[in-house]
Amino acid sequence: MSIRIGVIGGGTFGRNPLLAFRQLEHGGRAVLAGLADTNPELLRQRKEEFGIPVYEDHRRMLDEIETDAVSIATPDHLHREIALEALRRGKHVLVEKPLDLTEAGCRELIDLAEKNGRLLQVDFHKRFDPDHRAMAEAVRRGGLGDILYGHAHMEDRVEVPTRWFPGWAANSSPAWFLGIHFFDLVNWMLGDRPARVFATGQRGRLPGMEAETWNAIQTHVTYARGAAVTFQCSWVLPDEFEAIVNQGVRLVGSQGCWEVDSQDRGTASCLAGEGMRTHNNHFLRERADKSGQITREGYGIDSIADFVENLEFLAAGHSLEDLRGKYPSGQDAMEATRVAAAAHASLESGEPVDLSPPSGHAGESRP
Ligand SMILES: NC(=O)c1ccc[n+]([C@@H]2O[C@H](COP(=O)([O-])OP(=O)(O)OC[C@H]3O[C@@H](n4cnc5c(N)ncnc54)[C@H](O)[C@@H]3O)[C@@H](O)[C@H]2O)c1
Repeated sequence: MSIRIGVIGGGTFGRNPLLAFRQLEHGGRAVLAGLADTNPELLRQRKEEFGIPVYEDHRRMLDEIETDAVSIATPDHLHREIALEALRRGKHVLVEKPLDLTEAGCRELIDLAEKNGRLLQVDFHKRFDPDHRAMAEAVRRGGLGDILYGHAHMEDRVEVPTRWFPGWAANSSPAWFLGIHFFDLVNWMLGDRPARVFATGQRGRLPGMEAETWNAIQTHVTYARGAAVTFQCSWVLPDEFEAIVNQGVRLVGSQGCWEVDSQDRGTASCLAGEGMRTHNNHFLRERADKSGQITREGYGIDSIADFVENLEFLAAGHSLEDLRGKYPSGQDAMEATRVAAAAHASLESGEPVDLSPPSGHAGESRP
């Protein structure tokens, strides 16, 4: 059975799900059924590239073509309404991170998905990075002992907020756009609950966006079992920096430590006109078969393929309960949202924020 999927939002990152579903279509596992995006020029380009029906209004797409599921890659603050609309119509939903910018919005989505018996998954692809999986497995089997402390960093070049999405950077922040990945990753690795959040930050330094958005945010999280992890996130690295993103994570426990540098994996180049570059080939790499057909591999694809695998599992007669704890769920995404929202509350008040235990199933998807 091929799962029919409509993509909503086909911008800079939205091209990635389009490529992933097209590839799964070649394997007979999915049908890339259509694309909705409010930008007519972008729709023209994507129609030319993918040869699929395109729509300026996602509701019209859902009215006119048959779909089992949708994949949403609109700006962060526009995920919720579109995901609710899709769930109301009985679709399974894959959403880019963050699921929503409020705990209440996440809760609304989780409740509707549960009520309608539909899969709600979030594209937290850092969980699919093989180096993170090895680290998570070592933490889970107790190889590091009790986790004491750690740190993570994720820093984009300044072109991301200023040239990729200047129209909605002010609706986001380094915590929402970048930190959220590592809030989820560390929650998942530790299988523990964030209990207290304190944040500091800097703003007003991005040319053209002086007052609008945080430039850098440092989020210090204490977990229920006592570990403390600091997350340093910014989107101010100069254009000359050797990769679009600098990122890594380190945890130290009573019996050992583990560190992943996921920006510099040891592959570097310096080409005329480009300067020094490092390459994260774990995210996406291309391979041509003998007929020239390109196959894309890496955790950027695996995370989206996991959504299709989960739908195949359900179609084979299994239940959502059978999947619990085995994918980045709406509940997991709500936990990450609670940390990002608390970081912003702490930035405003200058005080730490205590997080009460969430309702539902905290820390449900341990590695
Ligand atoms: N998983 C990741 O690592 C990762 C990386 C980058 C971005 N993202 C997420 O992907 C999402 C999109 O980011 P982006 O960089 O592609 O942004 P973008 O601005 O390049 O693309 C967003 C697209 O959504 C379209 N859009 C806006 N409102 C719409 C609506 N109501 N209906 C349909 N389309 C609409 C815009 O026209 C645009 O083409 C964001 O949530 C972002 O946080 C995830």
